[in-house]
Amino acid sequence: MATADHVKALIRSHSEGDNERFYAVALQVAAQAARQGHTKFAQELRDLVDRSKVRGEAPAPGQRTKPIPIVQPRGELAGLLSAAFPTIRLADMALDRQVRTRLERILLEQRQREELRAHGMSPIRKLLLIGPPGTGKTMTASALAGELGVPLFTIQLDGLITRYLGETAAKLRLIFEAIQQTRAVYFFDEFDALGSERATKNEVGEIRRVLNSFLQFLEQDDSDSIVAGATNHPQILDRALFRRFDSVIEYSLPSPDISEQVMRDRLALLDTSQVNWPNVVEAAKGLCHSDLTRACERAAKNAILQRHTCVDSQEFVEALQERRATHR
Ligand SMILES: Nc1ncnc2c1ncn2[C@@H]1O[C@H](COP(=O)(O)OP(=O)(O)O)[C@@H](O)[C@H]1O
Ligand SMILES: [Mg+2]
Repeated sequence: MATADHVKALIRSHSEGDNERFYAVALQVAAQAARQGHTKFAQELRDLVDRSKVRGEAPAPGQRTKPIPIVQPRGELAGLLSAAFPTIRLADMALDRQVRTRLERILLEQRQREELRAHGMSPIRKLLLIGPPGTGKTMTASALAGELGVPLFTIQLDGLITRYLGETAAKLRLIFEAIQQTRAVYFFDEFDALGSERATKNEVGEIRRVLNSFLQFLEQDDSDSIVAGATNHPQILDRALFRRFDSVIEYSLPSPDISEQVMRDRLALLDTSQVNWPNVVEAAKGLCHSDLTRACERAAKNAILQRHTCVDSQEFVEALQERRATHR
C-alpha cells in the first residue's frame, strides 16, 4: 500500500504540475500493492493511470488547457525578465468597442501569421499601450498571451535602467535575442523611462543610448513575438517613437456602460438583485477599472463576512467613495 513517502511525492508532483512523476509514483504504489497481494487494487490503480494519461494528452473540446511552463528565463536573462503563463482571455475584459476591435484584429493577424508571411506581409506585432494607470494595459498583455497560448515576459524598463546603468543597451540586446528565439508576448512596462524628460542628470546620456538601441533592435526585429510597450505618461515620449510601432492603442477611464460591465462581471458570482445600479454607476464616475475592481472586492467581502445573502447597495457606494478618497 501507499507509504507516507508515496503520498508526499504524489502531492509534491501534483503541485509542481509534474505529470510524469505523478504517474510514476502512482505506478510504484500499484507495484507495491501487487507485491503485497492486493492484486485487484493494483490493477485498478494501473487502469486509472492509463485512463488519466489518455485524458491528459487530449483535452476535451472547449476545455481550457493549462499552459505548461516550458520556458523559464535562465542565466543572465533571469534577472531581466519575469515570466508568467496567463490564462485570462479578451472576453474577461470590459473594453470599449474601438479598443476591442483593434485587439481582435491583432489576434486575427497573429493567428493567420503564416498565411500573411506566405504573401510577404507581417502581422501587427509591435504595440504601444498608452493611458492612465489602472485602465487595463497590463491586463491586455496578459490577455494577448492567454489568447495566443504563449508566455508573457515582463521587463520593468525603469528598474532595468537604474540597475544596469552603463550596460542597459547590452541587456536590451539579450532581451531582443530572446524575442527572436522564443515566441511570446514581451511587455516593456514603464516605457516612459525611455523619455529623456524623465531622466536625472547622470541618466540623460544613458537613456539616449538605450533609446537609440531600443529603436534599432525594434526596427531589426522580425520575429513572431509580440513586443508591447506601456506607459501612463505618453506625453514625455518622443513622438518619433510612436511611429516605430505597428499600433498605438489608447486606454481611457471607463464610460458609465463599461464601468457597469466591469462591476457586474466582478460580482457575477454574488446576488446583486438589491444593487441600485444607477446610483452605483454614478458613484463610480472618474474611477479607473482597477478602482472599480477593488471596490467590488470590498463590497463582496462585506456580503460574505456579514453573511448577507446579497450585495448591499449603500455599502457598495461607500466602497466606491472610499476608492475615490485614495486619489485625493
Ligand atoms: N478593461 C478591463 N476590464 C476588466 N477589468 C479591468 C480592466 N482593466 C483593468 N481591470 C482591472 O484592474 C486591474 C489593474 O489593471 P492593469 O491592467 O494592471 O492596469 P494598467 O496596466 O493600465 O495600470 C486588473 O488586474 C483588473 O482587475
Ligand atoms: Mg500596468
